[in-house]
Amino acid sequence: MTDQRTAAGSVDFGRATVARIYDYLLGGERNFPADRAAAHQLLQAVPEARDIAWSNRLFLRRAVHVLAETGIRQFLDLGSGIPTQGNVHEVAQAIAPDSRVLYVDIDPVAVVASNEILMGGPHRALEGDFTQPELLLDTLTDSDLATVIDLNRPVAVLYCAVLQQVPDNRIDAVIAPIRDRLAPGSAMVISHLSAADVTDAYDETTVSTAKSVFRAQAATEITLRTDAQLGALFGDFTIMAPGLVPLSDWRPELSGPDPYATAPTRSPMHGAVATR
Ligand SMILES: C[S@@+](CC[C@H](N)C(=O)[O-])C[C@H]1O[C@@H](n2cnc3c(N)ncnc32)[C@H](O)[C@@H]1O
Repeated sequence: MTDQRTAAGSVDFGRATVARIYDYLLGGERNFPADRAAAHQLLQAVPEARDIAWSNRLFLRRAVHVLAETGIRQFLDLGSGIPTQGNVHEVAQAIAPDSRVLYVDIDPVAVVASNEILMGGPHRALEGDFTQPELLLDTLTDSDLATVIDLNRPVAVLYCAVLQQVPDNRIDAVIAPIRDRLAPGSAMVISHLSAADVTDAYDETTVSTAKSVFRAQAATEITLRTDAQLGALFGDFTIMAPGLVPLSDWRPELSGPDPYATAPTRSPMHGAVATR
């Protein structure tokens, strides 16, 4: 792939992005030399980075599976990434064919790739910035996207492996407007690098090298959070069993029948699903 045009114009393939580094770690093909170089720098510091990415995807799929089984039919996937196997709409539709998914990502490559696999079906992909929640809510209510996601009915909002890109001084302003707008019966899914687990598993040099790869190659600052900080992001939502836990401990039995699953791996990420 050498060029890709989007509504935003041509994409700078000379600079790595988080979406494309992550795509490479998952074994995808929507990445370019700059992304692969950044991924290899990361893999040098954290050789199990691929397992961490896969463990996160498997958690996301288990969470969607459980929420579809509880009756949720609308999914808003914020920072959805480049499609891989077992995407949110595939998992949800396997349980409830009338499910609807809106994928939102800031990376035009992710949006183009999502639209290619959605091919005019009932789901949609939007190039958007979840750190501007008011703008996103306006877009959802004032456009034809309201036919995909009706905010007056229950919606599951997914923040998987995205909030560590939001600094502490912005996190509440990013989360609260969407969380507080959700109708009764809605859900939130969060997965996030755990401050405690990262500190336990890696020495300071490794952490600072990994952070500097994202800073230098993808202009992204990584913020680690404690369970107390993560729990607070759910506001008045109630966290479902088994709680806010290492991703591999969240309903691991559900990975069995998943055709895409590999064994859940240890990962320095924690996650939870909560409902209102
Ligand atoms: C590590 S990937 C996670 C992808 C997916 N959520 C998952 O868990 O598999 C992070 C994604 O968030 C996207 N992202 C980062 N900042 C964003 C923003 N402000 N608005 C929308 N998407 C964003 C990146 O482009 C990337 O695709």
